[in-house]
Amino acid sequence: MSQASRWPALLRLVLLASSPPLAAAFNNPPDVDIWCGKAYRATNASFNPGGWFEDTPYADADSSFRLTAKPRMSIYLDTDKTAAVLVDAVAPSTANTSSNADDLLVTISLGDITLGSASVAMGSSSNEVPVALASLSPQMDPYTLDITATSLSTNATLYATTANFSYLPYPDSYGSVARLDNLYGGTQAQRGKNSSWVDIYPYTYYVQWSLYWDANVSTLNDFAATYNMIHIVPTGTLGDTPFPWAQFQPYLDRAAELGIWLQYDVLWTPDNVTSMVEQVTTLRTHPSILSWYQSDEPDGKSNPLNATGLAYNTIKSIDPYHPISLALNCYDFYYSDYAAGADIITPDVYPISTNLTYSTEYLTPCNATYGCCGCDDCGAGPTVFSDIAHRLDEFRRRDELIGWAKTQWFAPQAFGNETFWTRYPTAPELAVMTLLGVNHGAKAIVNWDFPTTAELAGVTAQLAGLFNNSAVTSFLIGSPRTQDLGVVGGGGIVDAAVWVKEEEEENKTALVSIVNLDYDAVSGPVTVALPERLSVSGVKTNVWGNTTWTVEDGAITVAGGLDGLDVSVLIVTLG
Ligand SMILES: *[C@@H]1O[C@H](CO)[C@@H](O)[C@H](O)[C@H]1NC(C)=O
Ligand SMILES: *[C@@H]1O[C@H](CO)[C@@H](O)[C@H](O)[C@H]1NC(C)=O
Ligand SMILES: *[C@@H]1O[C@H](CO)[C@@H](O)[C@H](O)[C@H]1NC(C)=O
Ligand SMILES: *[C@@H]1O[C@H](CO)[C@@H](O)[C@H](O)[C@H]1NC(C)=O
Ligand SMILES: *[C@@H]1O[C@H](CO)[C@@H](O)[C@H](O)[C@H]1NC(C)=O
Ligand SMILES: *[C@@H]1O[C@H](CO)[C@@H](O)[C@H](O)[C@H]1NC(C)=O
Ligand SMILES: *[C@@H]1O[C@H](CO)[C@@H](O)[C@H](O)[C@H]1NC(C)=O
Ligand SMILES: *[C@@H]1O[C@H](CO)[C@@H](O)[C@H](O)[C@H]1NC(C)=O
Ligand SMILES: *[C@@H]1O[C@H](CO)[C@@H](O)[C@H](O)[C@H]1NC(C)=O
Ligand SMILES: *[C@@H]1O[C@H](CO)[C@@H](O)[C@H](O)[C@H]1NC(C)=O
Ligand SMILES: *[C@@H]1O[C@H](CO)[C@@H](O)[C@H](O)[C@H]1NC(C)=O
Ligand SMILES: *[C@@H]1O[C@H](CO)[C@@H](O)[C@H](O)[C@H]1NC(C)=O
Repeated sequence: MSQASRWPALLRLVLLASSPPLAAAFNNPPDVDIWCGKAYRATNASFNPGGWFEDTPYADADSSFRLTAKPRMSIYLDTDKTAAVLVDAVAPSTANTSSNADDLLVTISLGDITLGSASVAMGSSSNEVPVALASLSPQMDPYTLDITATSLSTNATLYATTANFSYLPYPDSYGSVARLDNLYGGTQAQRGKNSSWVDIYPYTYYVQWSLYWDANVSTLNDFAATYNMIHIVPTGTLGDTPFPWAQFQPYLDRAAELGIWLQYDVLWTPDNVTSMVEQVTTLRTHPSILSWYQSDEPDGKSNPLNATGLAYNTIKSIDPYHPISLALNCYDFYYSDYAAGADIITPDVYPISTNLTYSTEYLTPCNATYGCCGCDDCGAGPTVFSDIAHRLDEFRRRDELIGWAKTQWFAPQAFGNETFWTRYPTAPELAVMTLLGVNHGAKAIVNWDFPTTAELAGVTAQLAGLFNNSAVTSFLIGSPRTQDLGVVGGGGIVDAAVWVKEEEEENKTALVSIVNLDYDAVSGPVTVALPERLSVSGVKTNVWGNTTWTVEDGAITVAGGLDGLDVSVLIVTLG
């Protein structure tokens, strides 16, 4: 199997040692090929690639806190009855807390019109402040709402910010609309005005057109029986100009009949957006469209820095009714420029069976300024999996500093035996990568790539059952998540997270996900405690895994220890 569509630069160099250098790059000498901005060929010296993320100081250095605001849902429609803005009143760790103990009155307004207000505690986050939609008219361009925070004790306005807020007319010609929940990260879609919103935790693969779909339209039937979304990687004939609509249309028709969602992989180049405009214009009303995948690893390829942002604006101006996503390969190469191009960021972290410090492909060392090892700047943690958690956490940290509303998806490694990767992951490794991503906030899983091995297809078919189970997804995309739970035992490399349904008054329940990152069994007892004030009263269901957890002093424990790479997902009762 070939990765030719994804790593064209690298493969072309492998195949044609004398090929001309690529044109796109901007930070390198003209005859030095780069990936993630770094020289990677043994014949070229390392240079500083630049583009390292710099932590931006708080906007007002004197302020003891800062206010950030984003709409609860990425878009509202004129059929919506209620709306809200999520407000964080972030107290920096250096704050003089004695001077800001007051609660705040947060007011949302548009010009002279007050749209809503709520009192908010200093240092709190994700406060939902209602917005009165009746005072707004639906329009295609986002509103810029003014948000102010006033001290309840002195009435002084302490901080002001703005939030872009989309309140759109319902597009009657559309077969579907979709949006993101900026509170819990889920995707919601609606097929026509008369249907209700459905919550989706997308679980699927990137699937190669030329290696799978192109065989027969019936491939969709098999795939849709297991997975809730499809992503067609436009390899082979889908790269033809003009786009082969006659060949593609039966797939669209069949997807609509099957009711499967489509993340459409838009084909375009930074210097010619004609095909992007054509594809989005043609497909925006199709009932299967869930999201637009605008770029695959633009940072790795070092596309022009403004390319993803310009594409984002172009797509939004044609179709504001579906979210936009992209995948990033690099750990730290112009993150804020490339990530500006999407509502959904999917980091690619492929750590299994690659040498992280020495490129077996190009015979050079790999470090922060040089080399390509297939997993950029990886090796950050105590296990081979640790980069997955680290990458998601770090991207989210950057988003928070910038003040962005972004959703994170994750692309586990379901390929191998090629270029940098000496073998495929095993099924337990793939389950570990997947749930580790989920524990660290991934709100969809798109495995790279399909076709894959029978072993991996087997475990993803099982995992698809987990992500299609509303008893599970009602936690994953319907309740707040706490990661990095305290684990006693397990050698310090057992990762755990919990989701707690806050709206339940009595018999509260929680979902707990526990992942042993150690290949070896760890001896017991291994005990996972929930955050303070939460006490487990019983284990209700094992939704993944066969390890028997019991309750002891309000925590869950397994006396006999954990198998290597054990993954346990449990629904527990609290009380
Ligand atoms: C980089 O490597 C290429 C390919 O070997 C070579 O043609 C080019 O001269 C090198 N550039 C520099 C600046 O060393
Ligand atoms: C913190 O704020 C209090 C109350 O305004 C003030 O008295 C105190 O001097 C401040 N401390 C520092 C270190 O700025
Ligand atoms: C703040 O404003 C409210 C309402 O206008 C008023 O009742 C209150 O006295 C004011 N408080 C201060 C400290 O000025
Ligand atoms: C609001 O939208 C404008 C125009 O697209 C953009 O420049 C700005 O960064 C956005 N603001 C926020 C807070 O996202
Ligand atoms: C939606 O429901 C209304 C009222 O029941 C009906 O008149 C209309 O035809 C329906 N529209 C569609 C697109 O099904
Ligand atoms: C841009 O792409 C379109 C088709 O996608 C093609 O017809 C057109 O010639 C291209 N324009 C330029 C300037 O290359
Ligand atoms: C985008 O960046 C390219 C390369 O730096 C530049 O030539 C172009 O003018 C920019 N486009 C816009 C619209 O800013
Ligand atoms: C990576 O390659 C280097 C150089 O060949 C070797 O010394 C090292 O042991 C390799 N590391 C792994 C984890 O295979
Ligand atoms: C990365 O490796 C290259 C080649 O050995 C070396 O020249 C460069 O200084 C290294 N960079 C860092 C940041 O260590
Ligand atoms: C690994 O790749 C080689 C070369 O493409 C192929 O011959 C072999 O069958 C592959 N092995 C597996 C297990 O996929
Ligand atoms: C909570 O559990 C108790 C005991 O099983 C049961 O009697 C009660 O109906 C439950 N309450 C709710 C709201 O489910
Ligand atoms: C749990 O046990 C069942 C029955 O033996 C098996 O089919 C399933 O694969 C096991 N699940 C895991 C995650 O190991």
